[in-house]
Amino acid sequence: MDFGRVMALHELTLSIGPGVTGLVGANGAGKSTLIKILLGLQTPTAGTATVLGHDVAREADRIRALVGYMPEHDCLPPDVTASEFVVHLARMSGLPAAPARERAADTLRIVGLDEERYRLLGGYSTGMKQRAKLAQALVHHPSLVFLDEPTNGLDPASRLDMLRLVRRISTDFKIPVLVTSHLLGELERVSDHVVVLDAGVLLRSSATSQFLEGTGATIVEVLGGTVERDQLGNALAATGLRCHPRGTKVRIDTPPPGVDVHRLVRDTVTDLDLALVRIEPDHGHLEDVFTQGAHRV
Ligand SMILES: Nc1ncnc2c1ncn2[C@@H]1O[C@H](COP(=O)(O)OP(=O)(O)OP(=O)(O)O)[C@@H](O)[C@H]1O
Ligand SMILES: [Mg+2]
Repeated sequence: MDFGRVMALHELTLSIGPGVTGLVGANGAGKSTLIKILLGLQTPTAGTATVLGHDVAREADRIRALVGYMPEHDCLPPDVTASEFVVHLARMSGLPAAPARERAADTLRIVGLDEERYRLLGGYSTGMKQRAKLAQALVHHPSLVFLDEPTNGLDPASRLDMLRLVRRISTDFKIPVLVTSHLLGELERVSDHVVVLDAGVLLRSSATSQFLEGTGATIVEVLGGTVERDQLGNALAATGLRCHPRGTKVRIDTPPPGVDVHRLVRDTVTDLDLALVRIEPDHGHLEDVFTQGAHRV
């Protein structure tokens, strides 16, 4: 997708399956552009895409009828209530009046806007607006939903609520979800699959479990502060292990084959008369894809 001065997406080849797919990347990475292309709201300079078997260039209307879309920016009319707004969108999707009212009430309850649904949207807080935006994306029983930054502007508790809702859309309602975030680690726990974009280029696309699997390294924590940490790190390094401080802990790189790291740690801790708090495998994190110079796919 070439915007003239900015190439928002470059030679992206990608397929998105069932479950929750997290689309992550820094501001300007091209997440919203990708979603708009998939909805037929923006025409790519080159390339093709199909959504639920429909071509984005020729069948955008069909796609928009099947897909629920929660846009990134505020799209709510200020002078109607959440209930009126969501009923209206349900009617526009083809539901008759009574089922539309029923579906709207159910959906608003699911997103946690039960009592506030008769208030004008103009008076809503950011958190309530995000919930109303989610409700309108779900009201017509979509076959797929695209959620663009649903946690934007939310406080930590509301953020967790929203992420739980995202998960429920997939597990309880069996609707596949494509959800974006510029906070790289945020979607780790709710996504089955993660797609990482960096300045319009696909950095990585793989099952979340592959991002988070053990790295082969070990993290050790002993009671005390940096003095104890360094005592342990230096003593372990003297046995031939490669160690680095990691906060108040020691990270031991993957040892050569046949080396029993746990035993070495236990013996060293006893020799130094330190108190062991924990030994655990070092799990990877989504952020590491950026910091470690990712392998491009
Ligand atoms: N209509 C447009 N005209 C010109 N440039 C655009 C247009 N839309 C997006 N861009 C540019 O394309 C790039 C990708 O933008 P996009 O909105 O897709 O990023 P994003 O990953 O959604 O970022 P954010 O996390 O900030 O929402 C940016 O550099 C942006 O400035
Ligand atoms: Mg965006």
